[in-house]
Amino acid sequence: MRFVAGETLNEALPVVKELNEAGSLVTLDLLGEHSATPDEAAKAAEKIVKTINAISEGKLRAGVSLKLTQIGLKLDQKICEENLRAIVEHASVLGIFVRVDMEEAACLEATLDMVNKIRLLGYKNVGTVIQSYMFRSPTDVQNLMRDDISVRLVKGAYKESPEIAYPKKSDVDTAFDELSKMLLDSSMLKLETLETLPEFWPPMVAIGSHDEVRVRFAEAYAKEISLDRKWLEFQMLYGIRRDLQDELAQKGYPVRVYVPFGKDWYPYFMRRLAERPSNLWFFISNLLRG
Ligand code: FDA
Repeated sequence: MRFVAGETLNEALPVVKELNEAGSLVTLDLLGEHSATPDEAAKAAEKIVKTINAISEGKLRAGVSLKLTQIGLKLDQKICEENLRAIVEHASVLGIFVRVDMEEAACLEATLDMVNKIRLLGYKNVGTVIQSYMFRSPTDVQNLMRDDISVRLVKGAYKESPEIAYPKKSDVDTAFDELSKMLLDSSMLKLETLETLPEFWPPMVAIGSHDEVRVRFAEAYAKEISLDRKWLEFQMLYGIRRDLQDELAQKGYPVRVYVPFGKDWYPYFMRRLAERPSNLWFFISNLLRG
């Protein structure tokens, strides 16, 4: 399918290799969310550890992204924390970065708390995601930057109430640019910390968008404040705007492709469909082609 690299890790790894060879970094995402039992959550955590091992063994320029509900957030926060800690610890030994995706608003506070707890244990290889549609995001960005936690900025993919999130696209876009500015300004103040980051880790700020206006804004603002290109990472989803990914990589920006794989593709696909209903046509034509 256009947005998913395969149903198994073995199918996804050649895709990562190919993207690396073409100059892109990767974050590998084992599809799955809202595990229903502690056993399911533990199995997902094990599979993520296997993914980390495969990245290390294959010397791939990649990290992983995961969702906390996949490793037990909605079942028991303690189980989730233990699973996350085990994953981050294992990844830390192998020098691999773990990005905790942001899910629906009901998970937001717990996600930030958990990432913060893990960071306070001394693990630097963990970061999270901020959604520009949430009213509270400027404060969350300030806190994350204060605590040296790397942020992927996105618009937000879930249906949220207008009491907590901007319903209008133009407001989400304006907020995105404002948050980009905050993140880039903060990166300027952290150049010394940035210099010590391991190779292939994302810097403090990653712009996760295919919206060319947002991308150009971030590029222009980084230029205005003289932030070196290597500290501004662009992240895009597998199968979307490959042309823009290649252009940015050729200009010298780190570009990271979010590569999902696994059997639980349905919710992920439905969110991509909601963003662009014409994707349904790609889906149907792929099915018809077999
Ligand atoms: P926008 O939706 O305005 O699209 C701009 C242009 O990009 C479109 O005109 C089209 O050309 C192209 N495009 C966008 N989406 C497309 C699609 N589905 N199919 C084809 N073309 C498309 N969200 C979240 O809530 N939590 C998270 O953790 C993450 N993580 C994440 C990682 C990465 C690397 C990315 C790029 C995105 C996310 N997201 C996310 C999703 C994000 O919130 C948002 O829903 C999508 O990126 C779509 O928004 P854009 O910024 O691309 O802009």
